Amino acid sequence: MKILIKNGHLVDPSQSFNKQADILIEDGRIAQVAPQISTPCDRVVEASGLTVIPGLIDMHTHLREPGYEGKEDILTGTQAAAHGGVTTVACMPNTKPVTDTSIVVCGIKARAAQCALAHVEVMGAITKGSEGKELAEMGDMAAHGAVAFSDDGHQVTSARMFLLAAQYAKSLHKPLVSHAIDEELNTQGFMHEGAMSAQLGIPGVPCVAEDIAVARDCLIAQYTGAHIHMAHISTKGAVDIVRYFKQQGVHVTAEATVHHLTLTDQACASFNTAAKVSPPLRSAEHVQAVRAGLLDGTIDIIVTDHAPHAPEEKDVEFRYAPNGFPGLETSLAVLLTDLYHTGLVDLPTLINKMSCAPAKLFGLPGGTLKPGAPADIALVDLQREWTVNSQHFYTRGKFSPFEGKACRGQVVATMLAGKFVMENGEIICNKN
Ligand code: DOR
Repeated sequence: MKILIKNGHLVDPSQSFNKQADILIEDGRIAQVAPQISTPCDRVVEASGLTVIPGLIDMHTHLREPGYEGKEDILTGTQAAAHGGVTTVACMPNTKPVTDTSIVVCGIKARAAQCALAHVEVMGAITKGSEGKELAEMGDMAAHGAVAFSDDGHQVTSARMFLLAAQYAKSLHKPLVSHAIDEELNTQGFMHEGAMSAQLGIPGVPCVAEDIAVARDCLIAQYTGAHIHMAHISTKGAVDIVRYFKQQGVHVTAEATVHHLTLTDQACASFNTAAKVSPPLRSAEHVQAVRAGLLDGTIDIIVTDHAPHAPEEKDVEFRYAPNGFPGLETSLAVLLTDLYHTGLVDLPTLINKMSCAPAKLFGLPGGTLKPGAPADIALVDLQREWTVNSQHFYTRGKFSPFEGKACRGQVVATMLAGKFVMENGEIICNKN
């Protein structure tokens, strides 16, 4: 099968490519990139006016399967990915059972092979049941394809346990992903502690809860030499601490979420549970610091933390609502609108942080349009205007803190391993 994408504007930061070109896809891989290709093909896709990018890679996705299929499953989660131009997701281990054995890792991979519309990488848990008491079988999970380890949703409260995990992760050549929020301080509140929490009368989580945990885990990275990746950092303090340790040559990397780059705790006004998330949406000075960290390289990658819930679970009083919201179907559009069209971040930087850099950091295929690479591609109309309406999402989590947002820029097609899985906003193919 040969497909030719003609006259698109290619943005591929992995090879500093930013110009018009044709791209030939053969047998699921990128065969050629050149100014003009006229090989006879099974299909020619006219992409003039569109931007062609390597498919996005989201290293922080909750697919919820096994165990929480009422919130999401591998099919609906990866349909949402395809809808948003995301071709690889790394699914987090807070499933039921927790992804803490190779059996669960293999089960997720087998299910994904049957039905997923994105490549699914699996994060194994650090501790059994993510309970922080005993290490999970990290070596066995790594041998069966786990890409990294995390107890996402909870801090590993014991420094001794986290240090041990870092030593194991180092010997396995895998990153350890830290959900760096002090558990005790965190459980005292339900949103960012500040003027907005005071106004709403909702107990807040102090930002020092994150700073303390990030500092501890940076020190453990320094002591062990392990690669520790800080999940969803969201405070000025956390950004400063990661920046400092990077300057010391410590192997720490960091991610920021789309929402911590674009929303403040104002989104929680009127007790909007759609905006309840952990770590919480912060005040504007923290958002500024996270943006600065993105621009100066302190923050290596952007993630969604796609965390769907059944909509009725969110339809309760603020403090009882679960944390998180879906993000796969809005990530690129929101960032194009708020960071690119406003002139704050250029397009290659954005695509690098959302595709090339995650591939490099976690040693994954994809994140590039180089010949030989898997043909994981998104076609984007940078100018198309649309309004977020969660009822049009493919995820089961049909709610969003971006509900009603006027966006400029939309993914119009997604190709996975040489096959279109989404065109014109519609999932057009189920696997096989
Ligand atoms: O908001 C969040 N939701 N933060 C997390 O760390 C976990 C996630 C979830 O699993 O729902």
